[in-house]
Amino acid sequence: MPSSLACVNGKVTAAEEATVSVLDNGFAFGDAVYETLRTYGGRPFHLDRHLARLRASAARLGFDVGPEEDGLRRPLDDLLARAGNAESYIRFIVSRGRGDLSYDFGRVQGPTLVLVVRPLVPMPAAFYEEGVLLAVASVRRNHPDALDPAIKSCNLLNNLLATREARARGAFEAVLLNAAGDVAEGAGSNVFAVKAGVARTPPLSAGILAGITRQVVLELAPAAGVTVREEALRPADLREADEVFLTSTLKECLPARTIDGVPVGTGRPGPVTRRLLDAYRRYAPAHSV
Ligand SMILES: Cc1ncc(COP(=O)(O)O)c(C=O)c1O
Repeated sequence: MPSSLACVNGKVTAAEEATVSVLDNGFAFGDAVYETLRTYGGRPFHLDRHLARLRASAARLGFDVGPEEDGLRRPLDDLLARAGNAESYIRFIVSRGRGDLSYDFGRVQGPTLVLVVRPLVPMPAAFYEEGVLLAVASVRRNHPDALDPAIKSCNLLNNLLATREARARGAFEAVLLNAAGDVAEGAGSNVFAVKAGVARTPPLSAGILAGITRQVVLELAPAAGVTVREEALRPADLREADEVFLTSTLKECLPARTIDGVPVGTGRPGPVTRRLLDAYRRYAPAHSV
């Protein structure tokens, strides 16, 4: 029987029964960091990179996620074994801890460590065959001087507002621009545009999350015969692209069919996206340990 399990500070329960204090800073302030992973062949993909980013995100907020082996890796192995799913969705959430609803963080006892494992629900195959609908949101990506998108924090209102707007317009994913009007990233993904066979994605300096899928695609592209560049993209670059695709842990390389209702290229997923998706799917099982 596949199952959804959670581990909160070492206590394992069914995911729906797991609880965190109402005084937790994660609940009160979004003062928490997280990672979403998935398994290939039952093992987590690039756990090393995800744990490094989790630690780096927490360090930017000024707290420590605790010991890696005992606090993070072993509980994950334990939960994956207990859940027994063919493939799992994995979420780490680490908050600063339990406080008193004030900004007096000296009183916070933490961190609070939450781990959720549940059966993976893959993206529908039709999404890869037909592409998904994108909308450029009016909501801009947080300015890095205010709340740096490089921090993968649970303070997700910026992403949520953009997603609400995109969904209201019938789109699957919002694309957010930065304060300068350049393309930043998707609400839960990084963005690539392909023109004349060259793939381009905004640089980290555009104010984005350093996506692990994005980085893997950058690494795999040369061997897949694709030229890829980190370069600023204007919204017009998306509209005029031959292909646009999103990258994320759960989306892998997901082609776009339309942007704001206008077809991307031929309106069908293109060969560069396909080649990178194939390369990614060949790479992923070998890097899931
Ligand atoms: C805002 C944002 N950008 C990019 C990504 C892609 O990151 P990754 O490839 O590490 O999953 C995510 C994933 O959740 C995200 O939330």
